[in-house]
Amino acid sequence: MTSPLPASYSRISGTGSFLPPQRVTNADLAAQLGAKGVETSDDWIVARTGIRARHFAAPDMPCSDLAVEASRQALASAGIDASQIDLIILATSTPDMVFPSTACIVQRKLGIQGCAAFDVQAVCSGFVYALTVADSMIRTGAARKALVIGAEVFSRILDFTDRTTCVLFGDGAGAVVLEASDTPGLLATELHADGRYAEILCTPGAMSGGQVMGLPFLKMDGQAVFKLAVGVLEDVARSVLDKAGRTEADIDWLIPHQANIRIMHGTAKKLKLSLDKLVVTVDEHGNTSAASIPLALDVAVRAGSVKRGDTVMLEGVGGGFTWGAVLLDF
Ligand code: UT7
Repeated sequence: MTSPLPASYSRISGTGSFLPPQRVTNADLAAQLGAKGVETSDDWIVARTGIRARHFAAPDMPCSDLAVEASRQALASAGIDASQIDLIILATSTPDMVFPSTACIVQRKLGIQGCAAFDVQAVCSGFVYALTVADSMIRTGAARKALVIGAEVFSRILDFTDRTTCVLFGDGAGAVVLEASDTPGLLATELHADGRYAEILCTPGAMSGGQVMGLPFLKMDGQAVFKLAVGVLEDVARSVLDKAGRTEADIDWLIPHQANIRIMHGTAKKLKLSLDKLVVTVDEHGNTSAASIPLALDVAVRAGSVKRGDTVMLEGVGGGFTWGAVLLDF
């Protein structure tokens, strides 16, 4: 493998996504939960979150399978072969195994070897983190063609007796090919974390002595997360716009993490963006954590909404507490 050269920019050359076939509507979920004595309703879920359905992976489908499907689509849309990829970064909080990384498993399933492959763990901000790291590596010359993936099987860590969390999340994967480019491309990136808030959104279980110690299910203080999310999403969007020398008026599409339509509308309003510039998939996907942004991007690209040359703001927020944004010309 020849040593790559530093690049002026990185640019998304292809997108892909995958949703497992099982689509579960709010009504389906309410019926399943009701059978266990857990009360919820389509009305409550739609009104509080905007979610109407989510997809759940079959028990024998690991995170890497979803990631590989999304990656194959991204490679096809970039018009390149997997063998040309020289970096794989995969964002997930629901990996196939404790180790090796799901990125290494994806590399094997794609039939390639040798290139760097690693996972990024920043929960729902994971894709924005992964894209930022890939951008840095391309611009320093450590890689020229990266596969950047967000993939999750959150259904595996949901407590289906806890209605405050289990109605919110779904499974899926999204991927992009990020390539070295003489023209933008990614314009500005910014990442943040505040570990003081680790407990407000976490899955506290840990492996010890061959057993899971502590709770292996997701738990969340929804209102605390909501309040923090609304503030940081506005701040980080303004900050990357400043860095890129752009303003809100330059944004063609806002693709925030898809967790709650109320947070997304609030962010768009604070940035003075009309709601038709907001890409929304939370209604059909639920919250797919690290997968939500690349999934939404791919849906919008395939629908013909996001087009070459459009300026797109990607924004992640979630457990850690973590947040970040990427501004790019598509
Ligand atoms: O992915 C990382 C980012 N995550 C997020 O951004 C999530 C942020 N948080 C949220 O989206 C919202 O806080 C939730 C959707 C999680 C909750 O919405 P909320 O408007 O904050 O509702 P709440 O927690 O204040 O609960 C209101 C009521 C409560 O009942 P009481 O105490 O008023 O009687 C809950 O017990 O709604 C009840 N409730 C439900 N009722 C029916 C909570 N979950 C459900 C449910 N079905 N599934």
